[in-house]
Order: sequence, then C-alpha cells, then structure tokens
Amino acid sequence: EKGGYDYFMLKEIAEQPKAVADTLLGRIDAAGSLTLDEVRIPASVLREIDKVVIVACGTAFHAGLIAKYAIEHWTRIPCEVELASEFRYRDPILDPRTLVIAISQSGETMDTLMALRHAREQGSKVLAICNTNGSTIPRESDAVLYTHAGPEVAVASTKAFLTQLVACYLVALYLGQVRGTKWGDEIQALVRELSRISREVERVLETMEPVRELARSLADKNTVLFLGRHVGYPVALEGALKLKELAYMHAEGFAAGELKHGPIALIEEDLPVVVVVPSPRGRSVLHDKIVSNIQEIRARGARTIVIAEEGDEAVVPYADHLIRIPATPTLLQPLVSTVPLQVFACELATARGNEVDQPRNLAKSVTVE
Ligand code: M6R
Repeated sequence: EKGGYDYFMLKEIAEQPKAVADTLLGRIDAAGSLTLDEVRIPASVLREIDKVVIVACGTAFHAGLIAKYAIEHWTRIPCEVELASEFRYRDPILDPRTLVIAISQSGETMDTLMALRHAREQGSKVLAICNTNGSTIPRESDAVLYTHAGPEVAVASTKAFLTQLVACYLVALYLGQVRGTKWGDEIQALVRELSRISREVERVLETMEPVRELARSLADKNTVLFLGRHVGYPVALEGALKLKELAYMHAEGFAAGELKHGPIALIEEDLPVVVVVPSPRGRSVLHDKIVSNIQEIRARGARTIVIAEEGDEAVVPYADHLIRIPATPTLLQPLVSTVPLQVFACELATARGNEVDQPRNLAKSVTVE
C-alpha cells in the first residue's frame, strides 16, 4: 500500500504533481475561465461579501495565510486568517456579508468545526475546503470545494497542503471573476500558470537528492531557523512545523523583516538558517531586501540554506547551500518552495531514527478541542 516507498509520507510527497493536477481538473473550462459549480453560494451573495475570514489549524492554517495574499491582491476584499482555536473565544465580528473559509484536510478537526459553527450562528456563509468526502466540516458548511489529494495517511501533511493552496487560488480567482475585480484575460493568464504548475512540482521532485544529503549532514543539530517574506513567510512557518513534527527539533519560522526586531540575536556560528527567496522578477524590492537579510545573518556566522529561483544569481555569493526551484509567479511560488522543505524534514527525521509516518504525541486528525 506504500507503493514501494518506505513511508507513506514519501509516497504522498511524490504524489503531489498528480494531486495538484487532480484538484484543478474540471474546474477550468476550455476558454480558461473558472467553473466552480460545486460552490453553491450564489454569485449574487459572493458579490456582496465585504470580508473573508479564514479559519484553520496547523498546516491548513499556513495555507490560509498564503491565501490571504492572493485573495487581497486579486480581489481587493479584506481577508483575515485566524487559528480556529483562537477564533471563537475572542468574539469575532461576523455578519452575513462575511465569507468564512474553513480549511481542513480531514474535515473532522474539532477546533475548525467549532469555529465554523460559531460563524454560521452569526449568519456568515461558510465555504469548506476539505479533502475528505462527506466528513463533518463540509456537511456543516454552506458549500464545499473538495481538494483531490486522495487519502493522506502520514500524520505530517504534504499533498493535502499543496492542494489546499490550489483550492485557495481557485476561490480567490473565482471571487475575482464573479465580482469583476480582475480582467478576464488576467484571470486566464493566472489560470494558465496554475495549470502548468503540476509539471513544475514534478521538476522540483526530480532534483531533491542534494536536499536529502544536506538534511543527513544536519542530523545532530538542535535548532534550524526558517526565514521568508511575503508568501515565503508562511512557507517558512510550514517548513518549521514539518521539522518540529518529524525531527523533534527546535525549528522556528520568521518574517525576514522581523530579524532585526529580535530573532537575529539567535544567530550563532554554524546555525542552519533556511531562507525562502521571492522571485527577483515581479516584486524585486522584496527580493533585494531578503538578499541583504541573508548577508546579515551570514556575517554573523549562520550557515545559509537558500531556496531561490533558477536564474537568480544575486543570492549565489551568500548561499552556503543553494536549492533551486523553477520560476513561477510570486503568489504561486509556495507550490514549489514548500516541496524541498517537506523532503528536508522527512530525511532529517529518518536520519535521527524517528518514526516518519507516526510522530510521537500526534494524531492524524485532532477531534478534541
Ligand atoms: O485535518 P486538518 O487539515 O483540519 O488538520 C489540521 C492540523 O491538525 C494539521 O494540518 C497538522 O498541523 C498536521 N499534522 C501538519 O503536518
């Protein structure tokens, strides 16, 4: 059942190109427009929405953080993202014009379920993004957009995360489409890029041997830090979460711009720091800023592990280890930049002799609050 792989996690990492392609399947018509017929919230309601609130836990929360960048940029609707476990207890402001998106692989996470129940009580519409057919969260929501990752067995979420991102991009573009906040041809161009992305994920998977080698060489470290900016920031959080869960190491993700406000004090000789670099095309200010962040930490002794686009030469002098990813539009980069971090955590766990599919103290779906 592991299809020749030692662990379900390895199998699920390898299945990501297909999971991404399957989640797009049937949702884009021949003309390149989106047809999300399953989202049975009428277009007239979606046109009236004045706020989006995303609730989720763990890895699904990181997908939500990335979705915020896409939703606000593509639709100009304000978007908040909140940990489901915090949401209900702070008396959030919700009304019928708020669209709540609940993201959950299992569809059974109690914190997320309680958050969506609370939202519906306040009259908000709830759209679930879920991987498990007929599970509780979609059953209790107004509508559901299923991710088609197939069953995810390993406790650490991988392919479900990538498909959650795809679903979030689809929702964001769909909102842009029904509200007319993005021109048709712009949406079509983005949709075209999305359709190409599964091939790019495959290319990343083909080049992972150096990442595995690097992970093995770090097996006796205690701490690894992760830095990113823009959508690379949630990717850094996700990289750190994978490492905590699987390698039981102290791992933290930071927004690179926050370094000088505290975390830079942690940098010491030979401390591994993974940096997710935004594309030098597009928002180049971000890129230049992160290059100086890399210089700053390296000058203080950090061992820099840099994840950067093919063709990005500016990072080369400051990268102790360079991991290349294909060029993508800025907002879509998490679909390729997360993959090396999954492989990295999985290999480190193996090197440390940990149980990869079933990390200590964790359950695949958390059905208690
Ligand atoms: O099933 P869900 O997506 O609702 O689960 C949410 C989290 O429990 C889950 O993502 C958890 O953080 C994973 N083990 C992360 O790898």
